[in-house]
Amino acid sequence: MMCRMKFSHTLFALIALCISFGVSPCLAKSSQVNATELSEVATHPAKMDWWLDDKFGLFIHWGPSSVASVEIGWARASHPFDHQGKLELMPDAEYDALYKQFNPVDFDADQLVRTAKAAGMKYLVFTAKHHDGFSNWATELSDYNSMNAPYGRDICKELADAVHKHGLKLGWYYSTRDWSHPDYLVGDNSQYNDYYHGQIRELLTNYGQVDVLWFDHVAGKWSDYRFEELFGMIYELQPQILVNNRAAKFVFRHKAGTPTPELFALTKGDYETPEGKIGNFRVDYPWETCMPMSKGPDGHGGWSYRPEAVTASFEKCAQMLAACVTGGGNMLLNVGPMPSGELRSEELANLKALKPWMQTYGESIYGTRAGPYVSGQWGGACHKGNVIYLHVFEWADGQLSLPTLPRKVLHCEALGGESVSFTQNADALTIRLHESKMRSLRRTFKPTERSLHRVLKLTLEPGADMALIPVEGHVAKQQHGTLVNPMCE
Ligand code: GLC
Repeated sequence: MMCRMKFSHTLFALIALCISFGVSPCLAKSSQVNATELSEVATHPAKMDWWLDDKFGLFIHWGPSSVASVEIGWARASHPFDHQGKLELMPDAEYDALYKQFNPVDFDADQLVRTAKAAGMKYLVFTAKHHDGFSNWATELSDYNSMNAPYGRDICKELADAVHKHGLKLGWYYSTRDWSHPDYLVGDNSQYNDYYHGQIRELLTNYGQVDVLWFDHVAGKWSDYRFEELFGMIYELQPQILVNNRAAKFVFRHKAGTPTPELFALTKGDYETPEGKIGNFRVDYPWETCMPMSKGPDGHGGWSYRPEAVTASFEKCAQMLAACVTGGGNMLLNVGPMPSGELRSEELANLKALKPWMQTYGESIYGTRAGPYVSGQWGGACHKGNVIYLHVFEWADGQLSLPTLPRKVLHCEALGGESVSFTQNADALTIRLHESKMRSLRRTFKPTERSLHRVLKLTLEPGADMALIPVEGHVAKQQHGTLVNPMCE
């Protein structure tokens, strides 16, 4: 006890010192810390700042599954403690041999990162290892890796170098679930723990600064894992790193392995990860929607390359980003490179189209915080200083009426130059678009129809922070204490 208190004291002093020098808190030796002390480091609030400001990241799902155009997460016929999935399955031996054909000769990490950057993405998360167990880097712990595919290159290194060169932030997706390791949740899982901790050590040691560790859902019992040791190592190697909420997500609780509250809190990580849908309106806890840009024709999957997948329109990509940002979240938009290493043309076209969109509307995305208006079918709001941005998706005869604001609106303009006017009284703030053919249409994602998404910039007189403002008729349901974002549909 004495020893622990003394260490906590030292840890606090260290954190205070780090903060006073403007750097992230750091840990001395992971072997010395426990979940309580780790939580103190993990919850240092300033470490989230860049992520809360940056909003938009590129997710990349890629590996040998692209060779057979099968879904990366579900294609294998038999694997322990996993769901069978809804899509096509392959015999194990066939899946395991796919990497012998993995030769993406046209992959150009630098170009991909430049494309993401031009599209306004500020960070990138890459599947270092997915459920199949194939490592996209020169791991020394398994032969099942990209160096032993015909391509013979360390894909993680190429991406890490490009990401650092172009000033983005780097994230590794790592699936703890593993179809290839003989010990994973079979018999003594400690062999597997040694292996996966060792792989995380490699990923956090050999590739410079890593900003995000993005685990995926996992199975098993709490007693199957050594999470304190894992997180101790993570924060020792990369003190500033953010970790998503999936390191222990779906690990079963049972008598022998119930985690302490501190350990449970630690493994919950820094942010939540609603998948394939826009997260609920929520400003009290960070979240990030992960969203495939292309989905299978049945609406499932699409994380990795599948030729029959249907790619969302560029308008929908922009609206989904706006819905996340005004709902209090980030968006991690996924692409699945083809076996050649290139992006499918529809995904590339969307990324290219985002560039001019961001040039016009980027100020309403980056560095903002959600509110004061609560999101609804009408759209949503975010703010920065004395400016409120409204991302409007629905207009009634070219007009939008919202409850009034407690501060005076001095100026209103539509980003992109359209002419607008507004009136503000004690009850309402009403904005009119002076567009000749603006009709009462609902938002549309059909690329042939003109999107109704408009971004308005309201400049307010200076004043105090505002409370959230519900928009009548729009805030439908509450779910688990948070408001369902109608853009979820
Ligand atoms: C789902 C998919 C998996 C993918 C993940 C991303 O869990 O099964 O393949 O990596 O979503 O969030």
